[in-house]
Amino acid sequence: MTSEWDTDELLEGDEKVEAVRHMFDAIAPKYDRLNRIISFRLDVRWRKRAVRDLGAARGARVLDLASGTGDLCIDLARVGVRPISMDLSFGMLSADRSGVPRVQTDILRLPVPDGSVDGVTCGFALRNLADLPTFFAELGRVVRPFGRIALLDVSVPRNPIIRWGNNVYFGHVVPRIGALLSDGAAYRYLPKSVAYLPSPDVMVAELRAAGFTDVVHTQLSGGLTQLMVATRSPAPAAAG
Ligand SMILES: C[S@@+](CC[C@H](N)C(=O)[O-])C[C@H]1O[C@@H](n2cnc3c(N)ncnc32)[C@H](O)[C@@H]1O
Repeated sequence: MTSEWDTDELLEGDEKVEAVRHMFDAIAPKYDRLNRIISFRLDVRWRKRAVRDLGAARGARVLDLASGTGDLCIDLARVGVRPISMDLSFGMLSADRSGVPRVQTDILRLPVPDGSVDGVTCGFALRNLADLPTFFAELGRVVRPFGRIALLDVSVPRNPIIRWGNNVYFGHVVPRIGALLSDGAAYRYLPKSVAYLPSPDVMVAELRAAGFTDVVHTQLSGGLTQLMVATRSPAPAAAG
């Protein structure tokens, strides 16, 4: 049987949202184990770095968007922040181990008032979204002036040797591990999904247009992952 995400075509719009939801519902029970194995536990370090660079104060209200099984929520709670976990997939939310409040929603339409949160984190989900500028505009709407965001996702290493090794690993090794321990199609989608991500310059410009300032883009672990942090400007976002 083939899955809707087992395709060379890059799905768009509602079709993409539904395929992504079904895929994460399917892999949720084994998601954490696979993550630790395929990233050699580097994912743990990357999330801690995101929480550190977010720099939220104790007691701050932070939305962890596309929260999955709650890893970032756990790290946020450890530093005294009050996270809320939001995700599209009921499967991922039911595997959430963080114990913080959970909300099922499409994060392109956040069920919170304007300027109502102190910060946002989002780990490894940007490439899964149907429309990135709409997501950044939602962040600009819900984060209060001087609030902070920290967004993580996979990346394409700039160094050609690391890029080659990364392509071999994610193109050939990870799908085999996925097929053995979880869902082969989902882990074949992983390397393909990177093609959805705009270049760092484009994302930085889109964040600025959405009302963020001090936008810092950092490549982590030789460019295997990227982290963007920014501060909500007190000025309104650019129109349109
Ligand atoms: C690769 S997982 C990352 C989970 C978690 N943030 C982490 O760091 O492990 C991507 C998550 O994004 C969620 N997701 C994808 N599209 C979404 C959307 N439009 N709205 C909400 N969640 C979404 C998926 O359900 C999945 O849990």
